[in-house]
Amino acid sequence: MLSNLEQQPADALLALIKLHGDDPRADKIDLGVGVYRTGQGGTPVFGAIKAAEQKLIDTQTSKSYLGPEGDMGFVHALMPYIFGAENPTIDGRIEGMQAPGGTGAVRLAVALAKRAGVARIWMGLPSWPNHAQILGDLGVELKSFTHATKAGLTDMDALRVAIGLAQPADAIMLHGCCHNPTGIDYTPAQWDEIAQLVADAQLLPIIDLAYQGLGHGMEADAYGLRTVLAAVPEALIAYSCDKNFGMYRDRVGAIYVMAPDGEVLRRVLSNGCALARAAWSMPPDHGGAAVRLILEDPALTALWLDELDTMRRRVNQVRARLAERGRAGTIDLVPLGHQNGLFSVLPLSPEQILKLRADHGIYMAGSGRINIAGLTAGNIDKFVADLATVSA
Ligand code: LMR
Repeated sequence: MLSNLEQQPADALLALIKLHGDDPRADKIDLGVGVYRTGQGGTPVFGAIKAAEQKLIDTQTSKSYLGPEGDMGFVHALMPYIFGAENPTIDGRIEGMQAPGGTGAVRLAVALAKRAGVARIWMGLPSWPNHAQILGDLGVELKSFTHATKAGLTDMDALRVAIGLAQPADAIMLHGCCHNPTGIDYTPAQWDEIAQLVADAQLLPIIDLAYQGLGHGMEADAYGLRTVLAAVPEALIAYSCDKNFGMYRDRVGAIYVMAPDGEVLRRVLSNGCALARAAWSMPPDHGGAAVRLILEDPALTALWLDELDTMRRRVNQVRARLAERGRAGTIDLVPLGHQNGLFSVLPLSPEQILKLRADHGIYMAGSGRINIAGLTAGNIDKFVADLATVSA
């Protein structure tokens, strides 16, 4: 039977990690997979995480099973940051479960939507490539619209047309902030309109919030999510701590359900638990426990928020530096200055992207997406010069 399987290509984004690692050139630049890098190019463990991990080692008395919902202390501790400190459960209508990273949360959200009868999900493209893979794997139809215009603005007309065509049993996938891959986010005024459009069309929103704190800060980055939740009766939220706590390989995420009432909420979560049990039984504990220990301790929370601020400031400094350069060959770098989060997309052809890799040791996704955090004072000049060479 097994020989019936066809060879699959490696995941294009994750394959870049190995390709870059194998490149012997000293001046190579990794702008591929989305991890934060310091000005020295490293991705260190947060100080707050190190302290929490030590605390975990010192105090954890058992590694016995928890259950398919994982560490509910972790799930609840995040809620004031995501949904607002005033009313984090939105009157008891929100509850969550831990999930293996943002990917596990998105997968569970889509699987739940499908179980509830959603057959089609609307999504702006380009998007994080794994969104489409998860939809395809779960057999949910992707209905696409254009996320951004050529001028680098969100394409509100395309979104309005898409929502106009959508039917009440459809869902819509929205990036809460720091759009991956474009870095082009909806403005608060646009979120206000989107919330109303989604509510009027009776669509189920699935909001993927994977970069909270890396755009304009923890509160500002939740504006879109909170605005949509205030307008609709129900929603699914996929949350990742992999970036804003730097937990990448530890796979730390959560899925939250907002339901019209507590009775529906319990039923949805029972389905979430059943799906989780069949998929991964329960999420890995370590990272979620470390995040919980941070959020239960005011001093560690302050340290974490400070480290997150430092990350955001550095990413925005690199963006400002790129914008100051103006152009690299035919490429206008100015818009990168006002985009958000780790990513932006450069208008490069596949040949130009391969040439940057082969001739200059610069690694980026095949979409032209660059990880802004991969640029440092030590490599930004080379990057801009090489970009100018290939795009001249
Ligand atoms: C990315 O887009 O680079 C990250 O979200 C990592 C991943 O899992 O793709």
